[in-house]
Amino acid sequence: MSITLGSVLISDPVDVCCGELLARNGIPVTIKYKLSKEELIKELQNHEGLIVRSETKVNNDVFARCPKLRVVGRAGTGVDNIDLQAATKKGVIVLNAPGANSISACELTCTLICNLARNVPQAVQSLKEGRWDRKLYAGFELSGKTLAVVGMGRIGREVARRMQAFAMRVIAFDPLLTQQVADEIGVEKLSLDEIWPTADYITVHTPLIPQTRNLINATTLAKCKKGVYIINVARGGIVDEEALLNALKSGDCAGAALDVFVEEPPKNPVTLQLIAHPKVIATPHLGASTEEAQQRVAEEIAQQFLALSGKSTKYAITGI
Ligand code: NAD
Ligand code: MLT
Repeated sequence: MSITLGSVLISDPVDVCCGELLARNGIPVTIKYKLSKEELIKELQNHEGLIVRSETKVNNDVFARCPKLRVVGRAGTGVDNIDLQAATKKGVIVLNAPGANSISACELTCTLICNLARNVPQAVQSLKEGRWDRKLYAGFELSGKTLAVVGMGRIGREVARRMQAFAMRVIAFDPLLTQQVADEIGVEKLSLDEIWPTADYITVHTPLIPQTRNLINATTLAKCKKGVYIINVARGGIVDEEALLNALKSGDCAGAALDVFVEEPPKNPVTLQLIAHPKVIATPHLGASTEEAQQRVAEEIAQQFLALSGKSTKYAITGI
């Protein structure tokens, strides 16, 4: 069984191969970015499909006022900007491309861990500004240090594997991690209470859900080793930004690398102070921003739209 997709709106920058693939298979595509909510709703009166990345917020109002809409696809992993409950209520299918950008997010995480250990961004900036400050930017070896991976899904596992090549001891917590998988990857499966006082570096790779909101907070940071490093390339909100800022100011936390923030782009003063802190390396949600990942997510989401409309054999979508 398939559904008729007369046309599709792409409302965020997604690799061109997405629209091309749909158009080549007889699904007309309209590309319009930076639409206000009202503009989006007006435009969606004409389309059965919508493809977004992060900027477009597909909320209850959009689902309620766009009766033609049948499918929303996110060219990425998380579907945080799509109201799933509202979609379900209206019978709209929501698709994503989990896994298509995992390697890119993993590689950014590993890059940030190395940069934290060796103060690379700060040293580069200092030299560009004309200083020769070898003492200030001395760092630490990763070899022999303990990395905690919280969330051992697609990205967490890849990070664990790669950081083992630096001779790091990798410990991990994930409620779904089995002893067998932990043994296969060569990580030590610990409880969170065991993780906090043991880790030199803690990297989070969970979704943002009630159980993970503010997972790293004032209480958990107080249980960590003095001088712990925190890395978040998952979702803003998993780390309590105010608690992290306080731990950096007190020196309890030696540094943090953040790709994601509670509000994006960040405007609130706490986040801005955090980004400006000399011990923080901050990137503007670049985890999936590689040519390879963007092509993969774009193609995968287009293929899923084609499968839904009965035009592709690459994915078998059943039960519609
Ligand atoms: P995944 O679903 O493969 O893995 C998530 C893991 O988290 C699962 O194994 C799950 O069991 C675990 N988990 C759930 N609740 C937990 C808890 N309370 N404590 C510990 N572990 C818990 O997801 P993924 O593809 O690896 O993505 C991980 C995160 O990275 C997501 O938030 C995703 O949105 C984000 N992400 C960010 C970027 C970026 O650009 N920065 C790119 C891709 C993905
Ligand atoms: C994702 O969920 O895939 C990431 O946030 C990356 C992105 O879409 O930019």
